Amino acid sequence: MNSVVIYGSRHGNTQEVAEAIARELRHHGPAQLFSVDEAPLVLPKKTDLVVVGGPTEAHRMTEPIAKFFDQLGRGQLEGISAAGFDTRLRWPRWLSGSAGAGITARLRGAGATVIDPGASFVVAGKYPVLEAGELERATTWAASLAAKVDSRVPDAVR
Ligand SMILES: Cc1cc2nc3c(=O)[nH]c(=O)nc-3n(C[C@H](O)[C@H](O)[C@H](O)COP(=O)(O)O)c2cc1C
Repeated sequence: MNSVVIYGSRHGNTQEVAEAIARELRHHGPAQLFSVDEAPLVLPKKTDLVVVGGPTEAHRMTEPIAKFFDQLGRGQLEGISAAGFDTRLRWPRWLSGSAGAGITARLRGAGATVIDPGASFVVAGKYPVLEAGELERATTWAASLAAKVDSRVPDAVR
């Protein structure tokens, strides 16, 4: 299973989550990790899974992530399994908003097959850092994505 993980991050928390996700996905095959500023607009051939995440700011995804999807264009992720995630504060969802919701919609718009409703990982504090256990939760989430992709990829094309 070939994976690509793309993240935006202002203060490093989302990067840490993305690294944990990529680390787990590497148990299932090659997984490339890109900051959104360096992410390719054409994914490597035979990409089975793309995971995109970013921080929630002003209730939505940040500009670099939105720009990435603008440049990616419709249909670019046709046939690729995908999932989105975000980091955000532990506020009620209606108050915090969620970058992940927008990311998931943009993944779908780019033609990806969204295989998971998306996940949020929580930061806290004046200079927000990930709450205890969030990286472990990210690892578990990544493993669940791998299992879903595995059940989609026929043996013949592995
Ligand atoms: C300018 C700004 C706006 C933010 N707005 C929100 C928000 O609307 N909802 C929320 O849950 N968190 C908000 N946050 C908290 C961020 O989600 C949190 O700092 C981020 O997840 C940390 O990720 P990073 O370290 O990768 O940048 C905001 C943070 C900043 C800096």
